[in-house]
Parts: sequence; C-alpha cells; structure tokens
Amino acid sequence: MSEGARPLLGRLESIEVEGLAALREAEDEEALEAARVRFLGRSGALTEALGEIGGLPAADRPDAGRKGNEVKGLLEKAHEARAAELRREARAREASQRDLTLPGRRPFRGGTHPVTRVIDEICDIFGELGFTRVRGPEVETEWYNFTALNIPLDHPAADVHDTFYLDEGVVLRTHTSPVQARVMQAHEPPVRVVVPGLCYRRDAFDASHAPAFEQIEGLAVDEGVDFIEFRSAIDHFVRRFFGPEVKTRLRPDFFPFTEPSAQVEVSCTICGGAGCSTCKGTGWIEIMGAGMVDPAVFEAVGYDPERYTGYAFGMGPARIAILRHRIPDIRLLYEGDVRFLRQLAGPEGG
Ligand code: PHE
Repeated sequence: MSEGARPLLGRLESIEVEGLAALREAEDEEALEAARVRFLGRSGALTEALGEIGGLPAADRPDAGRKGNEVKGLLEKAHEARAAELRREARAREASQRDLTLPGRRPFRGGTHPVTRVIDEICDIFGELGFTRVRGPEVETEWYNFTALNIPLDHPAADVHDTFYLDEGVVLRTHTSPVQARVMQAHEPPVRVVVPGLCYRRDAFDASHAPAFEQIEGLAVDEGVDFIEFRSAIDHFVRRFFGPEVKTRLRPDFFPFTEPSAQVEVSCTICGGAGCSTCKGTGWIEIMGAGMVDPAVFEAVGYDPERYTGYAFGMGPARIAILRHRIPDIRLLYEGDVRFLRQLAGPEGG
C-alpha cells in the first residue's frame, strides 16, 4: 500500500464502521433516512471522501478507489436490508392492531324496488285465494281500454282517462282493466287473475300523482260468485297485507264496468282510525276501486251474463307502498335515488 493513501483509507474504514452501525441500528424510517443522508447523501461523509480520491497522487488512487467502492456497496446493502426490515415490522404491527372481531363491510348490492315488492306481495296473497298472475299490453285499442268496459267514449267517465293516443284508436292504457276483457276472451270461467302493470294518464307529476304508474287489477268470475265472496276476498287481503287489526269498509262509488261499485277503504294505518293528516282526519284511507262485474262487460266479451257473476278490483301499489312506509311524496319512488331506496331495501338489498 502506498503511503499517500493511508489517511483517506483510514477515514473510509471509520466511515464503514460508523455507517454500518448507524444504518443497522436505525430505529425507524426517519432515523434510517437521516443515516443515509449522513453517509450516502450528496454531501455525506462517504461522498465527500470519494471526492478526495481525485486529489491523491496517481499511484494511490486505485487502492483508495477500490476501498471507496467497497464501502459504498456495503453501506447501500445495509440501507436496503434495514429498510426492508422496517417495512416488515410496520406490516406486522398493523396486522396486530387489526380488530378481527369487527363486522365486515358488505359490498353494495341491488335490491327489489319497494313498489315491486308490494306488487309481489299483493299477488302472492291473492295467489293464496287461487288467483293467477297475468299480464297484458300497455298499448291498447280504444275498444279494450274503454268500449269493452262499458265506457262510451263521450261519457264523462272517459274524461279522467284522457290519455296519450299513439294512433287512430290506439292508446297507452289508462288502467289495467282492459286485461279483464282480454282474459275473458281467451278463457272460459272460472277465471281468477291478478294483473300488475304500468298505466298512463295525462296527470301532472306531483306529490300524489305520476303520469306513468303501476296498477294491479283483480278479476274473479264463475257461477255463483257473490258479493259475500267479493267482500271476504278483500277482507282477507287487507288483513294479510296490513295486519289483522286493520278494518275494511266499502263505500258506494261508480265505475261503468262494475255494478254495484265500491271504494274500498281501510282503517288508517298511521293513526289506527283516530284521525290524522294522512287520513285527513277521517280515520279511513281509500286503497282501491272495486265492484261486481257489470253484465255489459260479460256481453262484450261473449260470456253469458245470466250464468256468470264476478267481481273486479283495481289498486295502485305505489300508493300502498307510500302508506306502508309513510313516504311523504310519491315522486321519491320514481327518482331512483339509492340513498332513499336503500332505506326501504328488502332482505336481499343493501
Ligand atoms: N280501473 C279503475 C281505475 O283505474 C279501477 C277499478 C278496477 C275499479 C276494477 C273497479 C274494478 O280507476
């Protein structure tokens, strides 16, 4: 070894010893970074010493250079090893702090819309009474939507059904009642069907009306179907759907396709009949239109009105969903806002 390189070699050796100790013993990432800057940084001890090699006599440079590179390699390796160790320790610490008894987070899943659930439930309850679920077209002819149902086009009853004409004599159906005529034309009695589906009216979209809305039609026709069967079917439905304590009452009404016609009301599910804002102080809430099928309808579809009798009803499941969940505005059911829908999600949703 040349004499001239000796002092620098000595420094490199102490940098090696001190640097390795500082890097290996760094307690955390911050201390490790400080040690790296102190020895390996741009103005660190090693970098400085390496810079001095160029100033040595040419004969001394190779030895000093070799030693310098060796120290650099050792320090870099030590830094890398300690960094990896600290990362491992941090991961282990985090894992030990994890509370494995916390309930897991459930991922978001779609659910059945509250109105769809009401429809399914209503159809199931009538299913217990022997009713089959069927569907009919949303685009109807005037004949099915009005004429077959004993609604003359110039009759005032047709006014509330003022609707969207798609073509001469072709409308978006205003109720599900036209499916009554379609089912009777296609099947001989006995007939017992429930018909959910969308209907359209020229109504403004407000807190209690929607221009496109769901209805559920019901129709039962056979020999000997009387008012008592009608009344008990409705009672059964109300008790099963709203609860055994809820009462039903019928009030006279008018529909051209039923005679007699009735408005079905249930004791207010909010106040129990005492009177509140939902029932407008009456204690009762209307849930459907209904009645015994008018013989004129049997004639229109080719049933013998002397032989058969029956009853029909029509209700709006969105209104019923509103009563059930105390929803203040029907439009909430149409906006598809998950923050709202999530609150009413069924067991499958969340
Ligand atoms: N179709 C009627 C309506 O939409 C309801 C109804 C159905 C009334 C069946 C009686 C019988 O207003």
